[in-house]
Formats: sequence, structure tokens, C-alpha cells
Amino acid sequence: MVTVTGLGAISSLMITSCLAVLTHSVLTTYLDAPGPSPAGICSSVVQPYGYSCEEHTVTTKDGYILSVQRIPHGKRGSKISGQPVLLQHGVLMDGLTWLLNPPDQSLAYVLAESGFDVWIPNTRGTHFSRAHTSLQPTDPAYWNWSWDELAAYDLPAVFGYVHGQTGQKINYVGHSQGTLMALASFSQGKLMDTVRSAALLSPIAYLSHMSSAIGQLAAKAFVGEVTNWLGIAEFNPKGQAVAKFLKALCANPGIDCYDLMTSFTGKNCCLNSSTVELFLRYEPQSSSSKNMVHLAQMVRNGKIEMYNYGNPNDNMKHYGQADPPTYNMSNIPRQLPLFLSYGGQDALSVTKDVELLQDSLKFHEGDELTVQYIDNYAHADFVMGVSAKHTVYDPLIAFFNRH
Ligand SMILES: *[C@@H]1O[C@H](CO)[C@@H](O)[C@H](O)[C@H]1NC(C)=O
Ligand SMILES: *[C@@H]1O[C@H](CO)[C@@H](O)[C@H](O)[C@H]1NC(C)=O
Ligand SMILES: *[C@@H]1O[C@H](CO)[C@@H](O)[C@H](O)[C@H]1NC(C)=O
Repeated sequence: MVTVTGLGAISSLMITSCLAVLTHSVLTTYLDAPGPSPAGICSSVVQPYGYSCEEHTVTTKDGYILSVQRIPHGKRGSKISGQPVLLQHGVLMDGLTWLLNPPDQSLAYVLAESGFDVWIPNTRGTHFSRAHTSLQPTDPAYWNWSWDELAAYDLPAVFGYVHGQTGQKINYVGHSQGTLMALASFSQGKLMDTVRSAALLSPIAYLSHMSSAIGQLAAKAFVGEVTNWLGIAEFNPKGQAVAKFLKALCANPGIDCYDLMTSFTGKNCCLNSSTVELFLRYEPQSSSSKNMVHLAQMVRNGKIEMYNYGNPNDNMKHYGQADPPTYNMSNIPRQLPLFLSYGGQDALSVTKDVELLQDSLKFHEGDELTVQYIDNYAHADFVMGVSAKHTVYDPLIAFFNRH
């Protein structure tokens, strides 16, 4: 049986990203605000902890106005900003991803305390990034994008902005779809003049071995149904259309909708689950239906290629060729320092797929590729795990300091 709460839980876990838990009262206050909060992430979440925080906006070439938060330094430490680091969240999440645990456990604060200048963008379409120079979120054209555009427009815009503000090359951290966006850009040789190194947590590139049964089923159903079901539109995980889709999914034999978090992400070892209800009131965030279809295409065909319009004619119209162009991971510049961290229990970024990625990076210069495997970690542990500071963030910071 699926309760209303259960549906919320399913939708929060569609395809990828993480299920988080909120463990502190600052966010409670924030979430209690009725309707969309006029206050930004800085004033409602970060500043109450005593951290400096600045709100910035960045406009992409295709007109999306993104909100970006900056935590320029630690609480008591030097007021001089260190090297910039950019934290890119996954799909159906937003910048809060990096701020959900208490400061001693959340990557954004941990980096600030380690002397980094922390920048947190929010992807187009999410709660704090819904403005556009000419379109409204109610226009279908506003949702006419997939991660191709996140890689082609959002990422370069934010890199360019942070580089312009700081005059320094950027350390990057991506989680889930945030890794895919970067890998796609890097494979085209982009961002090389502004990136210093990149850490990819729960890397998503190849998705063909995704072990989550419900994810596989969602991917199949999604590609089949989406054109007449949603079209070019907002994919709102809290909306009725999505709830209906998920309910149908859960009616399939063999699909366990009781423990949905585990069904989608794998068995996270180290989450604090006491405030999942609270989490569900804010996240998940919207994406575009086209993006969800694009991710589903990757699950089905095992390739990392641009959005497939579904027939040779339409692909020809958009790309000048019958098949969508591929992103060739072997073209990622070999001297770019990379840190990959993946978990043995992750049902989305599964070991076999990460091995495929590693294989395509085999020509990477030896000391420029660091790989960490954590046996008991699943998808959400990398951003929310209560043990992540020790297990992932300390080695990640050591990697940044080495390069
Ligand atoms: C989990 O979160 C609750 C609520 O914030 C807190 O009281 C508890 O100590 C946390 N448990 C762990 C293991 O961090
Ligand atoms: C979406 O963009 C493509 C071009 O990339 C265009 O052909 C199509 O008409 C657009 N659809 C909508 C609804 O804006
Ligand atoms: C990908 O790039 C590598 C290295 O540049 C090249 O050897 C390989 O043939 C390419 N693969 C495809 C499918 O184009």
C-alpha cells in the first residue's frame, strides 16, 4: 500500500539524486514559511549559523537567471577568501543539498572552515532559480531543455562568473547529475581555462547497469509515456501527474514501494532518518520532463549522448545527423585532476558503470586520477551521511590541496 507520504517519498527519489534528512531547527523555521519563501538560502539557512553568506545571480546565455550562494570563508577564521570551490547538486535537488546536515557534517561549511571560498549554484527550474529574461515557468518553452543545456549553458555561466569574481581557477564538486554535467563539458574540452580540479561524488556517466528495479521500470515507462503524457513541461515531483505515474509504477509486481529510499538509491548506511518528513516538505525540486526523458534514455541505451528526438528525421533537424552526437569520456583532458568517489551499495551510480567510466579514463595521467571506493555507501550517503566528513570530505580536501 502506498500512502500519500509514500508517494512523496517515491517522487523525491525519482531516477537519481538523494534523499536527505534535515537535522536542524534553522531549516524547520525556513520550511514553516507558507508558500515560496521570499527569503533566500543565505538569510534563512546559512547566516543563522553565524556564517557570512552572499546572494548572487548569474544569467545563462539562454536567459535563465540562476541564484548562487557564496560562503566566502569560515566562521572564525581568516576573512580572506581562499581558493574558490563550486558545489553542483543533482537532479530534483537544489543548493540546499550541501547544507542539510549540521555545519560540522555538511560539505559547504566543512570546506569554508578548511579555507575555501564556497559557491553554491541552483539549477534552472528549482525553487530559487525560476526567473528568466523573457520566459515564465508557465511557458512550455521555459522547460525546453535537458542536461545537455545544463552542461552547455548553466555550468559555463557559473564558472565564468565565479572566475570573474575571484580571479582564480575553480575546484569543482559534483554529486550525481552534477557529475554528469561536468563530465559532458570536460569531454568537449570546455571549462579548461577556468577549472583547477574536479571531485565527482556518486558519478553518473554510464547508467546501463543501474541496479534499482524501480528506477529501471521508471525509465522504461517514462520514455514510453512521456510524449503524450507531459510533453515539454515542468516535471514537478510533487504534482498530481507525477503522483499518478508513481502510483501506477508501484502497482507492478516485484516493486517494493514500502522502503522507497532503499529501492531507488540503494541501502544508505549513514543517514539520520529522524526528519525525513521535514525534508519532503521542501525537496524534491522540479526539473524538466525533457531532462527526465534524457536520463531515462541513458538507462535504456547505455550511452552518453545528446537528447534523442526519437527518430532520424528530427535528430537530423537538430544535429545534422541521424543519431545524437555522443560525449566521448576518453576526450576529457588527461592532465585535469579528477577525484572519483563511489559506493558499493549505490543503486544509481553502480560499480559496473563506474568501472566503465574508469576504463574510458585509463589514459589519464597517473597521479591526476584519484579513485575512492566506499563499500557501505549508497547514493545519498555522499552528501548527507553523518560519517561523510571523515570518510569522503577529508580525503577530498586533501586532493584539492595536492593539486
Ligand atoms: C539525528 O537528528 C536528530 C534531530 O536533529 C538528532 O536529535 C539526533 O542526535 C541525530 N542523530 C545522529 C546519529 O546524528
Ligand atoms: C524546443 O526547442 C526546439 C529547438 O531546440 C524547437 O524545435 C521546439 O519547437 C521547442 N519547443 C518548445 C515547446 O518550445
Ligand atoms: C573517443 O576518444 C578516444 C580518444 O580521443 C578515441 O580513441 C576513440 O576512438 C573515441 N571513441 C569514439 C566512439 O569516438
